[in-house]
Amino acid sequence: MLEIQGLSKTFDGRPILKGVDLSLEKGEVLAVLGPSGGGKTTLLRCMNFLERADGGTMVFQGKRMDMPSLSRREIAAYRRHTAFVFQNFNLFSNKTALQNVTEGLITARKMPRAEAEERGMEALARVGLADKRDAWPSQLSGGQQQRVAIARAVAGQPDVIFFDEPTSALDPELIGGVLDVIQQLAEDGMTMVVVTHEIHFARSVSDRVLFMDAGQVLADEPTADFFEEQKVERIRTFLRSLERKEN
Ligand SMILES: Nc1ncnc2c1ncn2[C@@H]1O[C@H](COP(=O)(O)OP(=O)(O)OP(=O)(O)O)[C@@H](O)[C@H]1O
Ligand SMILES: [Mg+2]
Repeated sequence: MLEIQGLSKTFDGRPILKGVDLSLEKGEVLAVLGPSGGGKTTLLRCMNFLERADGGTMVFQGKRMDMPSLSRREIAAYRRHTAFVFQNFNLFSNKTALQNVTEGLITARKMPRAEAEERGMEALARVGLADKRDAWPSQLSGGQQQRVAIARAVAGQPDVIFFDEPTSALDPELIGGVLDVIQQLAEDGMTMVVVTHEIHFARSVSDRVLFMDAGQVLADEPTADFFEEQKVERIRTFLRSLERKEN
């Protein structure tokens, strides 16, 4: 469904992504793991054109796109099929939960308000927050705010959702509720790319793991192989260091 070849990106002359290839099947959950500063966020942002790649080709639903030269109109058309969930939720603080979910449908997609609200309520119900429709973000916990952000992503009926460390800004006791929602989306067949440090979650929910270090893909393999038969010493060291942190 989505394929990328040779994605490269430099910041201030420093190479951050050094020719990344990946492919994503419909219904697949790809976990992106790797050490801090390895380029995971940059990869995800380039994939949704929040950051402009210096080189690379994307094939999305059969359409071939040159990533550096894609026009604004083509980007907008592509983004009708995608959604992005940020680490810090990025909700409008002066809009209610439901308004946050419907805003994009009404303004960008010109959907009639009644229809947008119907879709918005379905999406809020899906993340277990139908009763919070009129709450302001400040009245919601971090976990609830992130679930509203996920409802907003879902309401656009995207073909793929990108998550950038969706639980890393949350208190430990709020992480589970957000991961449960993402797991449910996976079970419903949503195609997702999830950057995460939650190893147990990656292991139980993802179909494949892509490991990034210093702008390069060190591994891209089925989840079971990645965790159980890891041959790259650098990755084994990384996994061991996470286990130590968790214990
Ligand atoms: N806008 C920017 N301008 C300059 N350098 C940047 C910018 N964004 C990222 N970088 C640099 O690119 C490198 C990769 O950053 P990135 O945020 O993609 O890493 P990451 O794998 O997501 O790390 P983390 O796990 O800490 O979130 C880092 O060295 C970072 O300092
Ligand atoms: Mg990051």
